[in-house]
Amino acid sequence: MTSLDDLPLRADLRGSEPYGAPQLLDGIQLNVNENSYGVPESVQRRISSEIEKTLSNLHRYPDREFIELRELLAGFLGYDLELAQIWAANGSNEILQQLHQAFGGPGRLAISFGPTYSMYPVIAKGTLTDYKELPREEGFTLSASYVVEQIKANNPSIVILCNPNNPTGTAIELDVVEAAYEATEGILIVDEAYAEFSDSESAISLLHNRPRLVISRTMSKAFAFAGVRLGYMAADPAVIDAMRLVRLPYHLSSLTQAAARAAVRESETMLSNVREISVQRERVAEELKKLDLVVYPSKSNFLLVGGFSNPRAVFDYLLSNGLIVRKTTIDSALRITIGTEEENNRLLELMPSAITSLD
Ligand SMILES: Cc1ncc(COP(=O)(O)O)c(C=O)c1O
Repeated sequence: MTSLDDLPLRADLRGSEPYGAPQLLDGIQLNVNENSYGVPESVQRRISSEIEKTLSNLHRYPDREFIELRELLAGFLGYDLELAQIWAANGSNEILQQLHQAFGGPGRLAISFGPTYSMYPVIAKGTLTDYKELPREEGFTLSASYVVEQIKANNPSIVILCNPNNPTGTAIELDVVEAAYEATEGILIVDEAYAEFSDSESAISLLHNRPRLVISRTMSKAFAFAGVRLGYMAADPAVIDAMRLVRLPYHLSSLTQAAARAAVRESETMLSNVREISVQRERVAEELKKLDLVVYPSKSNFLLVGGFSNPRAVFDYLLSNGLIVRKTTIDSALRITIGTEEENNRLLELMPSAITSLD
């Protein structure tokens, strides 16, 4: 049988592992930070009818500039954003990839502050961009002075600040973003995949007169739309022009555009469970603390939970009971997505035995 070693694979890809969060297609999925409440039925109908309208035209390429969707996204985000400042792609992973294609590449460095999103190094590698994950400060926080110091020491072409941060849930203040922007001559990406769950101001408020600032968003999390693959960003129109240089033509299918248009038009309904998820997050956090676990403050739809003497065994115990959470690279910790009330109840019911019988 042929293996990767037999193929003329790029030398720098030899020995690499693909991204591979285990998928549990049946059962309680608290491992990839989706919104377990799903798409409300009324919106499902709107999506169906918007998609149906495209069917007679599927022999044509889609609108390459996805004008209508960008207009809707600009209106949804607010801050007086215009169409020319908005871009979208198949998930914010593709947004990040296009940014690296345009602003990274051979001889250029991207930095982030870890532990953070595990796809950053994968995207850097795929685009031949050097990558450095610098450690966060005490309790996974980041101060403006530390970020500035690291930017000056490393001279990156791309700086990624994940806010709130995955997998820790930590939020940063906008003064860190402002200071990072002043310190770098590169592109500053603020990855706001989980912003809707946070009560902090979005970095979009800083866009004016900051042409190297990019705010990346996704419909995969709060919007309960992970299956559609729709990520988007706000930036200076010149950055959007840079994206046009690297995107594949017609990268957003007519079906994706139609589904996303309907979802953005119904954003209020789509986001109606966000508050409930935050309430559930605080409830789950309090209950887990009663089990003597360490729960880090989170502004996201997940919790980083430490204090397990054997997180792998806890993961296995939960999985054997039909519930999947996420292993992390952080010692003695697991990352747990906040699900529906029933799903969270099941987690809380299983956790004491998971800890006492196996930990
Ligand atoms: C911080 C962060 N950014 C980006 C993404 C990518 O999401 P998507 O490609 O579904 O938009 C994720 C997904 O988990 C994430 O956690």
